[in-house]
Amino acid sequence: MWLEQPVVYQVYPRSFQDSDGDGVGDLNGIRSRLDHLVELGVDALWLSPIYSSPHADFGYDVSDYTDVDPVFGTLDDFDRLLGAAHGRGLRVLMDLVPCHTSIEHPWFSEHPDWYIWADRPNNWVSAFGGPAWSYDEREGRFYLHSFYPEQPDLDWRNPDVVAAMQGVVRFWVERGVDGYRVDAIDRLLKDAELRDDPPAREPFGLPVAEHEKGLALSRSRNAPDTGAALGRIREAAGDAFVVGEIYLPSFRWQPYLEHLDAAFAFELLHARWEAGALRSAIEAAYSTRRPAWVLSNHDFGRLGTRFGEANARAAAMLLLTLPGPGFLYQGDEIGMLDGAPGERVHDRAGRDRYRRPMQWDASPNGGFTSGTPWLSPIDPAERSVASQRDDPDATLNLVRRLIGLRPELGDGLRMLEAEDGVLAFDRGDYAVAINTTVEPRPAPIGNEPLVETSPGALRDGRLAPHGGAVVGATGE
Ligand code: NOJ
Repeated sequence: MWLEQPVVYQVYPRSFQDSDGDGVGDLNGIRSRLDHLVELGVDALWLSPIYSSPHADFGYDVSDYTDVDPVFGTLDDFDRLLGAAHGRGLRVLMDLVPCHTSIEHPWFSEHPDWYIWADRPNNWVSAFGGPAWSYDEREGRFYLHSFYPEQPDLDWRNPDVVAAMQGVVRFWVERGVDGYRVDAIDRLLKDAELRDDPPAREPFGLPVAEHEKGLALSRSRNAPDTGAALGRIREAAGDAFVVGEIYLPSFRWQPYLEHLDAAFAFELLHARWEAGALRSAIEAAYSTRRPAWVLSNHDFGRLGTRFGEANARAAAMLLLTLPGPGFLYQGDEIGMLDGAPGERVHDRAGRDRYRRPMQWDASPNGGFTSGTPWLSPIDPAERSVASQRDDPDATLNLVRRLIGLRPELGDGLRMLEAEDGVLAFDRGDYAVAINTTVEPRPAPIGNEPLVETSPGALRDGRLAPHGGAVVGATGE
C-alpha cells in the first residue's frame, strides 16, 4: 500500500460536478474540482464506475471495461484527470466490477459460456429483490444475476473470463491508475453445483434485504475458491492498492485478505450509534488487521442521516481517527444529508436519495450544473463548500483538521475504559473520545482538546452531548 492510512475520497461521478450542462457530472467536472480535495488534504480519490454502461445500475453494469461512457467524457478526458490528480499528489482508484457485466456487454451474446446458466432456477435471490435468475429467449435457459436482471453474473471458473478481466485490470494500471475498489467480491464465485441456499439457522451478520433473511446465503456467494480468483486479480494489479467490498462480517474475510490491502468494515457502517456497539464492530474488524473504514457511501446513505444529524461530526471524527484507510463519501465533508426520494425514480433499489448532487455554493443548483440536474441538490442555500470554507466551526474545517492530524495520531489502537455511552481509544500519540449519548458524560482522555467536534465539546473533563474530541495521548 502506498500509505498505511490513506484518506480516500469517494467521488460519485454522476453527482460531483457537471462541466457541459447536461445535468450529469463528468470527468472534466471532477478535474475542475480537484483543488477541493487538495484543500481537504485527502490522499486519493475513488471513482465509482465511469466505464461504458447503459446505466441500469448507474455504471455497475459495464458494457465496455476499457472505455469511458460518453456521459462522463472520453479516455482523453480520463488521462487529463489522472494527470491533474497526480500533479497534485492525489492517487486515483478505479471501481472494478468483476462479478457481472451489463446484459448489453458484447460478451453476453458473443460468449454465453462466460456466464452462469441453469435449465431450472434454484432458490437464489437477487440482492435487489426477486429471483436471481431470468430467462433468456435466445438461449432457452436462465442466466444468473446476483443484482439487477440487467447484470448477468460472469463465470469465474471459466479461464477466458479470468484472462479477460486480468486484461481489464492491466489496461487501467498501465494507464497509470493507482488501485482498485473491487465490487461485490463475496459474489464472485458461487456453489459450482448451483445447490439451493439452505434455510438460515443464524443471522447473516450484516443487514440483508427482507427477502434474503430466511436463507443462509452460503451457496449463492462466498464459494471456497473465491480467494484463488481474487489472487488472479491481484496478479494483474501488481502492487496497486486493492480494497475489497466484501459484504460479509469480518470473521469471514480470511480467505480474501491475502490478496487485498484492505476490506470495507461494513460492521461498523451498520453499527448502532452507541458506544458499545461501535466498539464491538471496531474490535472485530480491527482484529483482521486490514479494515478500511467506511461509514457512508452511495448505497447506504450519509453520516448525518444514518447516525442522526447531531452525530454527523462525531461520526466524521470516528471515521478519520481510526487506524487504517478511511473512505469519505463526497458531501459528508459539509454534512450533507440524504434527500427525499425524487419525483422521478432513477434507481429501482431506492438509492437516489444518497446520490443527490454535491453542493458547491448557495446557488439553486449548488454550482453542480448550469443545466437541469439529473437529481436536484437538497439544500445548497443552507449547506455548501463555499459557505463553510471560511467558517472555522463548519464541518468542512473540522474534517480538514482531522485529516491534517492523521499522520500524527500514532500507531495501533487501544480501547479505553469509559462511562457507558462513551467510546474512547488511544492511538499511541493521541487519544479520542466520543459521547454517543444525549447527555454530558465524563471523558477519560484529559482536558485539552486538539480537535473538537464543535467548540466546547470537551470542557472540564466532560464531553457535551454528541460531542467528540482528540487530545494528546493519555500516557497510561
Ligand atoms: C455494490 C455497489 O456499491 C452497488 O452500487 C451496486 O449496485 C452493486 N455492488 C452491484 O454492482
